[in-house]
Amino acid sequence: MTANAKLTPYIKAAEIQTRIKELAKEIDAYYAGKEIIAIFLLNGAIFFGVDLVRQMKTPMKIDTLSASSYSGTESTGVIKINSDLKINITGKHALIVEDIVDTGLTLKSIVNFVGQKKPADLKIVCLLDKYERRVVDNLTVDYTGFKIEDNFVVGYGFDYNENFRTLDQIYIYGGEG
Ligand code: IMP
Repeated sequence: MTANAKLTPYIKAAEIQTRIKELAKEIDAYYAGKEIIAIFLLNGAIFFGVDLVRQMKTPMKIDTLSASSYSGTESTGVIKINSDLKINITGKHALIVEDIVDTGLTLKSIVNFVGQKKPADLKIVCLLDKYERRVVDNLTVDYTGFKIEDNFVVGYGFDYNENFRTLDQIYIYGGEG
């Protein structure tokens, strides 16, 4: 089903890695050697998360959180936790690693959920930000890789029906040919 997909190159692998190095430096500077728990939101943020933490010098533990919010194709903001954190983050510095913020509904709900665990500090890093699509206004994304226009993207962790995640660069998905 994906053999004839229309994929237009959008952000090259080298550009992604260059931006990740910059983000890693910025985030390291903020934590200044304090230990953190990096929380990868599954599945999309795995690729970005691994590349990011390998560039960081901050001592850290990593954990994953799996939540779903979409009912059909629309974000609802009501999330279901499929798999919770394994590490106790109470009183710790936590960094949520997300792939993309679109309406912001999913991330807002996840921030509320993680915040209830009372970390000492909670920051968010997100690779892509579709800022024009935001519907929540009280969500602060502390570190952003790229601000993008309203295109549906695939590759480098981004999927369409679970396809294309493993491509090493980001493409605009234009449907099946
Ligand atoms: P939000 O609740 O509208 O912010 O939805 C965010 C979630 O929608 C992300 O974590 C992705 O799973 C998914 N998503 C939004 N835009 C895209 C895209 O362009 N490509 C792939 N997934 C996307």
